[in-house]
Amino acid sequence: MIVAAAGRGERLGPGAPKALRLLVGEPLLVHAVRSLVAALSLDLLVVAAPPDAVSEVRALLVDVVPDQVGLVVVPGGSSRQDSVRLALAVLPDDVDVVLVHDAARCLVPAALVESVVAAVRAGAGAVVPGLPVADTVKRVDDGRVVETVDRSALWGAQTPQGFSRVVLMAAHQATELDDAGPATDDAGLVERMGGTVVLVPGSEEAFKVTRPTDLLLAEALLAERAERAAGGGR
Ligand code: CTP
Ligand code: MG
Repeated sequence: MIVAAAGRGERLGPGAPKALRLLVGEPLLVHAVRSLVAALSLDLLVVAAPPDAVSEVRALLVDVVPDQVGLVVVPGGSSRQDSVRLALAVLPDDVDVVLVHDAARCLVPAALVESVVAAVRAGAGAVVPGLPVADTVKRVDDGRVVETVDRSALWGAQTPQGFSRVVLMAAHQATELDDAGPATDDAGLVERMGGTVVLVPGSEEAFKVTRPTDLLLAEALLAERAERAAGGGR
């Protein structure tokens, strides 16, 4: 499992790198890793950390990651794609299924992680969870609407995305040779090389913390989960 956590979180506003921002007292990355280790028996977690926070990230996670799970923290790169590539480079040879997750999707439900793993184990080379796009989508040029894009075929991609290791490595290697800009997800690299990407149903709870309001939503969701766990509510 690779966790991309090296971004700065510019859309969240000034402050620490996004993975280290606090959500009810704990960094987003700690919530994310807790969600992941709850989901399945991982062998190894490789975290791409903000380059100047590698030891801080390791210290934050040692008590969150169970003893039987390996933890490797590497400095991330200047794009998400670079961060994932740097994390891929340290995977041991015996890993054959790789999940790549955004630290910013810190409340991903265990069932979603497991459904992605199951789809890869069932033979898919690349798996992306997604949800239908809710807003009407406009293409805009210089402040003027050019067109309304047909929404019925549009899905928002989430993480974790799951891959057979050979497919993910090949996709990252292939993109080093093309001159397309960095992709915002890993499935996109598989698409670029003409590979098949399977979509599985995503989860609203796997939303990405991107803007300040997303932090409020995450807080509310955590409160609701705590209430459910305590047997409260309805
Ligand atoms: N990410 C990364 N390395 C980068 C950029 C992004 O590992 N150089 C990670 C982020 O930490 C995040 C995920 O990729 O978990 C998704 O990226 P995004 O939501 O865009 O996060 P940021 O890049 O941190 O935010 P922003 O674009 O607002 O600066
Ligand atoms: Mg970004």
